Amino acid sequence: MERIVEVEKLNFENEYEVTLRPSGWEEYVGQEKIKKNLQVFIKAAQKRHEALDHVLFFGPPGLGKTTLANIIANEMQTNIKTTAAPMIEKSGDLAAILTNLEEGDILFIDEIHRLSPAIEEILYPAMEDFRLDIIIGSGPAAQTIKLDLPRFTLIGATTRAGMISSPLRDRFGMHFRMQFYSTEELAQIIKKASLKLECLAQDDACREIAGRSRGTPRIALRLLKRIRDFAEVADEKEISLFRAREALDALGVDERGFDEMDLRFLELLIEAKGRPLGLGTIAATLSEDEGTIEDVIEPYLIANGFIEKTARGRVATPKTYEMFRLTPGTKPTLFDQG
Ligand SMILES: Nc1ncnc2c1ncn2[C@@H]1O[C@H](COP(=O)(O)OP(=O)(O)OP(=O)(O)O)[C@@H](O)[C@H]1O
Ligand SMILES: [Mg+2]
Repeated sequence: MERIVEVEKLNFENEYEVTLRPSGWEEYVGQEKIKKNLQVFIKAAQKRHEALDHVLFFGPPGLGKTTLANIIANEMQTNIKTTAAPMIEKSGDLAAILTNLEEGDILFIDEIHRLSPAIEEILYPAMEDFRLDIIIGSGPAAQTIKLDLPRFTLIGATTRAGMISSPLRDRFGMHFRMQFYSTEELAQIIKKASLKLECLAQDDACREIAGRSRGTPRIALRLLKRIRDFAEVADEKEISLFRAREALDALGVDERGFDEMDLRFLELLIEAKGRPLGLGTIAATLSEDEGTIEDVIEPYLIANGFIEKTARGRVATPKTYEMFRLTPGTKPTLFDQG
């Protein structure tokens, strides 16, 4: 089943994500620190007529990494070539991409933590010295051919900061960690998108949707699209708070943006009565894979203080017990029916 608050892209979403994707800073809401820094570095690079230093973005899905890469390309007025690490299987794949770059181009590699070690080895001299070392043949007769590459900017994005190798990480001049968005910021994003979609959402409706979006623009925009359908069916040209609430309830998104998976996760931790649970145990109990739990489900719960990661495993915080109206050590009754 698809989660409505799923942060990873659902298949049909590429098209509207592209239309709603901000193309310049004025449309990009939030991430103020990242924005400010990037603006300075972009200006400096432009003044020196140089390519921008390599940039690495990390953070949970749907927070705007791909969007930022595209804004950088717009600001630098350069081409951007986009690929994802799983698509670069052989060294020849990467060599072909690199040799096709032009001076100043941006190469965007998504999911960069998934590059194989052999591919990373090729990337190192390319990033450092703009040089491609190609090995021809094998054994004692093997020869290395060195090719000069144009000065380009590599932008890497990853949802898993911990899984990127340190030699690769060190070769990026700039590292930026994406933050979850505040309700206010999300409300602004929703407002702007509703204008683009020609179905204005009223301010209180924007805030309501924002509060249920798990701090994530992708979720906010998805909810907005679904709510617009409800308004359309009701023959309304604007989205009111009433309609937003009705739609959100119908979609099963609760007031904190938690869905069934979040609640089952929290319930599991509460049932453990303070005993830390390992990732493997949690994944098996929820029938979810460990990667999804770590990248998609946990970050928001951790950032908002609902769970804590200790050396021995995950535990629920007092805030979570409070939310379920429990004192630590007791059993939840709220979700016993499932
Ligand atoms: N700061 C922002 N302001 C306005 N809209 C945003 C912002 N950040 C993201 N969005 C919107 O959210 C959608 C998802 O963003 P994006 O694809 O850049 O996320 P991502 O971090 O690359 O996700 P993934 O890790 O899944 O690749 C985009 O279509 C964009 O329209
Ligand atoms: Mg992306």
